[in-house]
Amino acid sequence: YKVYYYKEVTSTMDIAKEIAEKGEEALIIAETQTKGKGRMGRFWYSPKGGIWMSLVIKPSFSLKEAYLLTYIASLATALAIEKIAGIKVFLKWPNDIIYKENDKEKKLAGILLEVKAEIDKIDYAIIGIGINVNNEISSLVPEAISLKEILKKELKRKDIIKELIKEFKDLLKVESIKILNLWKDKSLTLGRKVKIIHPEGEKMGLALDISDDGALLLKTEDTKILKIYSGDCIHLR
Ligand code: BTN
Repeated sequence: YKVYYYKEVTSTMDIAKEIAEKGEEALIIAETQTKGKGRMGRFWYSPKGGIWMSLVIKPSFSLKEAYLLTYIASLATALAIEKIAGIKVFLKWPNDIIYKENDKEKKLAGILLEVKAEIDKIDYAIIGIGINVNNEISSLVPEAISLKEILKKELKRKDIIKELIKEFKDLLKVESIKILNLWKDKSLTLGRKVKIIHPEGEKMGLALDISDDGALLLKTEDTKILKIYSGDCIHLR
């Protein structure tokens, strides 16, 4: 991918969109973001020292398969962190990268997917990836942690980015069933009692599995099985 590097941007998602509209594939990296975007419209703290990047790709997927991109991106991010930092990390549905410290689950990285599609064909996808590497963690996000905090030393962000892109390209070639299985192997969510929060309300239940079309299967108290396609997930126990 062609790499665009910036000292400061509003959000690499904004730059990525401009580039995507021109029909290019690219990797956009910024040192800091003033309006970093998280999932569900949240603000994403992006101080110096972290990896804040967006990947613009034109996959030959149908819109139905777009969900695979977040699973691929979170897996690639987890694998790159494990390889370069030498620690074990886990995945929380839908796409948080988690480090377990004693019994606490701390967020190391997050993924934000934006897709533009015409009818059923994906025109482009923008995959935003934020990784807390050498940056400070805002006291407003106590559930977050950085690699520097874990390792007590700084890592070269370039090493992580290189490995991540390599893993991502490799995983793009892997069949969808295999991707979901790899994701499930690293998941902390399946088998857990969870609370799903989304704009239409909250649902509690047991996280059973991921369906073939990428939804979280949730068994509720009234023994219904719901298919959840988006939302926030809280691990209860
Ligand atoms: C989440 O809420 O977990 C997703 C966070 C995604 C953050 C990354 S940082 C690079 C890219 N630019 C943004 O504004 N957001 C994503």
